Amino acid sequence: MLPAVKAWAAKLDQNDPQYEHNALEALWTTWGLNQADDALLRQLLAAKDFHARAAAVRVLRYNMHRIADHAALFEKAAVDPHGRVRLEAIVAASWMTDTAAAKKIVETASKQPLDVWSQAAAKTAADRLAGIAEKPQAEFTVVPAPDHLDAAAKKQFVAGQEVYNREGLCMTCHRGDGGGLPPAFPSIASSPWVTEDKERLIKLVLFGLMGPLEVNGKKFDGQVPMTPFAGMLKDEEVANVLTFVRNHFGNKADAVSAAEVKAVRSAQPGRMMFYTVDELLKQHPMKK
Ligand code: HEC
Repeated sequence: MLPAVKAWAAKLDQNDPQYEHNALEALWTTWGLNQADDALLRQLLAAKDFHARAAAVRVLRYNMHRIADHAALFEKAAVDPHGRVRLEAIVAASWMTDTAAAKKIVETASKQPLDVWSQAAAKTAADRLAGIAEKPQAEFTVVPAPDHLDAAAKKQFVAGQEVYNREGLCMTCHRGDGGGLPPAFPSIASSPWVTEDKERLIKLVLFGLMGPLEVNGKKFDGQVPMTPFAGMLKDEEVANVLTFVRNHFGNKADAVSAAEVKAVRSAQPGRMMFYTVDELLKQHPMKK
């Protein structure tokens, strides 16, 4: 298969406006065969189109163990005219084992103009390389399950707290008290979004949410989307965390089962789109 891909790539028409795109497809295919092609990679790192350059830096990030001069290649990407390529270089450097070289790359990139996303990435990368470890798993005290739940739901309530408090999960944005962090993150305390329609709730957790939103009369402009968790959490974990939030923070509602989560998930296999608030409310209107 590998020779066939290389032969195909060699025959691509360099005058085709899609040329770099096609060459990138070839590079990805060789990477998929676990033999990312060195020549194609170098060619695309110098592509005219920044999308191709950024994608090539990302391929290099996963193949640096095979490419001896990767640090020099990332150094070059760190001064790329396009921010997207520089961002990829910053992220890639944070994975390098040669931390001295990696720090230099992040420093080089940080001397270029950085947008807010790149600033955050540069800070995280610099911290990581300086040995400031990622924040440890949040400490939390387990809250006993309320008595209105049956024994099975009580178990879910307790298990759900571990999911809620994981780094990067609900607690990160909606906080330990469920109060959120206005103006970006809404409160899930006493929220009809949490207690009303289960399907609506499962959908927004699996597939994410964006767009202007109102919770208990408080308006959010929806610039900040909620991350989709379909790829990160199993049906059971979603069921548990939702059983927890539906019965804590002033909320009270019946438990969510893994089967219910599974039904919502399998109705839209591979959905990649966030829900907009409008779309979701059309399907599941708020009770008056
Ligand atoms: C990265 C931050 C982030 C994380 C993590 C996150 N959310 Fe959200 N969440 C948001 C934002 C932002 C919105 C509002 C989106 C909008 O304005 O359209 C939201 C909206 C919601 C809503 C509807 C509005 C409300 O306040 O009741 C619920 C319910 C909710 N999130 C539950 C969860 C649960 C459960 C988890 C963990 C599985 C979670 N969220 C994780 C950011 C986050």
